[in-house]
Amino acid sequence: MKALRLSPDQIHEGSLILVNRDYGCMEPSPSHPFTRVAPVLLKRRAAVLFTGLMDAVGGWGKIVPVSGYRTLAEQTNIWNHSLSEHGKAFTSAYVAFPGHSEHQTGLAVDLGVKKEHIDFLCPDFPDSGICRAFRRRAPEYGFIERYPSGREKVTGIGHEPWHFRYVGTPHGEIMEKEGLTLEEYILFLRGFPRGKRSYLFAAGGRQIAVSWLEARPDEATLLTVDDRLPYSVSGDNVNGFIITEWRDTYVS
Ligand code: DAL
Ligand code: ZN
Repeated sequence: MKALRLSPDQIHEGSLILVNRDYGCMEPSPSHPFTRVAPVLLKRRAAVLFTGLMDAVGGWGKIVPVSGYRTLAEQTNIWNHSLSEHGKAFTSAYVAFPGHSEHQTGLAVDLGVKKEHIDFLCPDFPDSGICRAFRRRAPEYGFIERYPSGREKVTGIGHEPWHFRYVGTPHGEIMEKEGLTLEEYILFLRGFPRGKRSYLFAAGGRQIAVSWLEARPDEATLLTVDDRLPYSVSGDNVNGFIITEWRDTYVS
């Protein structure tokens, strides 16, 4: 067993952080590992899984990464430019307020189907052909379509079929199975407090347990994990941690 001490700042780090109008994001530290997926930058893990997904669907040369990691200054420019070009209603539907964009985390990517002119803010990513194949397999690789149609009130953003967010495995698949946006998933996991009960999910023949641990506000939160088996810990960017543990129970 391994005892972890999670600092209060760590709630703002990890693949499951909720970034929206209510919860802003921290500027990643310069030491953060980013990887280029030409022409954009993504957090290393997101880039690796994105590459795997593109390989799996044969997306290279057909699907174009249009926008990935953005600095606060870039998001501010995009916001201001959109405001002057398209006005307030469009901008607040399709551009996150600076400091509140998932693009600032390096976990989000906008994709467009390859064509001569690709719109930067709203690239065409239809639900057909190669784009549909990508969208269908995305959860398997830990990516979700972050702003689905009909959930605008929950996410605070208009329908963006081009914006994919890396949440990690198996969370993409769980969210798809349960039909939850990230806002709803973060709430849902509070129903699985660590030590009381876990959300159990089977993937790749293995059982995976997911639980949530409330962070202590001003001191380290202690967490004990079985480090003989794979696990991951992510902050939720609200007030806790999500713990994902692969078990040695085989399930069919
Ligand atoms: N287009 C998304 C909401 C962003 O600006 O982060
Ligand atoms: Zn986007």
